[in-house]
Amino acid sequence: MSPTQLRVMRDELQRFLLPYRFGLQEVGTKIDILRDEFLYLHDYNPIEHVSSRVKTPDSLVEKIARKGVDPDFAAIRAHITDIAGVRITTSFTADAYRLFDLLTAQDDITVRRVKDYIAHPKPNGYKSLHAIVGVPVFLSTGPVEVPVEVQFRTIAMDFWASLEHKIYYKYARQVPPELLAELKDAAQSAALLDARMERLHRELHGGQRQLEAGTDDRVVVV
Ligand code: GTP
Ligand code: MG
Repeated sequence: MSPTQLRVMRDELQRFLLPYRFGLQEVGTKIDILRDEFLYLHDYNPIEHVSSRVKTPDSLVEKIARKGVDPDFAAIRAHITDIAGVRITTSFTADAYRLFDLLTAQDDITVRRVKDYIAHPKPNGYKSLHAIVGVPVFLSTGPVEVPVEVQFRTIAMDFWASLEHKIYYKYARQVPPELLAELKDAAQSAALLDARMERLHRELHGGQRQLEAGTDDRVVVV
């Protein structure tokens, strides 16, 4: 392939990925607004951390091969729904659900798929709430709906998932059984810690008040 052809390919890929970056910006703004409003109304921040990424070309190519997707942009757009990904780490499990509800209730957001691994953990112990949402992005050529994978999880679930991910890759997906059992046990400990911290938090703040939007009289109408 000539350098010119390579450059054309690179440019096409960059153009293909551009709307996903914009989709991340749109979702990022929505999350920022929810967090700022919560802080203002309730003096409480349910979000510990937000990170987002566009899938790397390497990871995209790996997934296209793994899922047997036709290597053309239309097929990739239709079948790979986690090119844009956002991870929201919350303090407590209730906050993960609350933020999911608030985000997915917005008029311009369409919910394409939800996987609740908090209510139904994976056999390895993995917990998180996953949603593929469609968000409109307004380009000069008109609006496009971009899929964004949003993962909601607590700090404890996130801690577990990062370590599990490292172990999985260190052992090239062939993790020794005793380590798998340890991981599953650790997931159980993380869940217990989550429940305990949430209980303490509720005692401190008296019920769920901090999670109920719109109950505060400091609402400002502009
Ligand atoms: P992928 O092909 O891996 O994207 O899975 P999927 O399309 O079936 O979607 P799923 O909702 O199961 O997983 C999506 C993402 O969640 C993954 O890309 C990971 O970021 C995360 N995830 C899912 N399962 C696990 C797990 O067992 N361990 C860890 N650490 N992360 C996971
Ligand atoms: Mg994925």
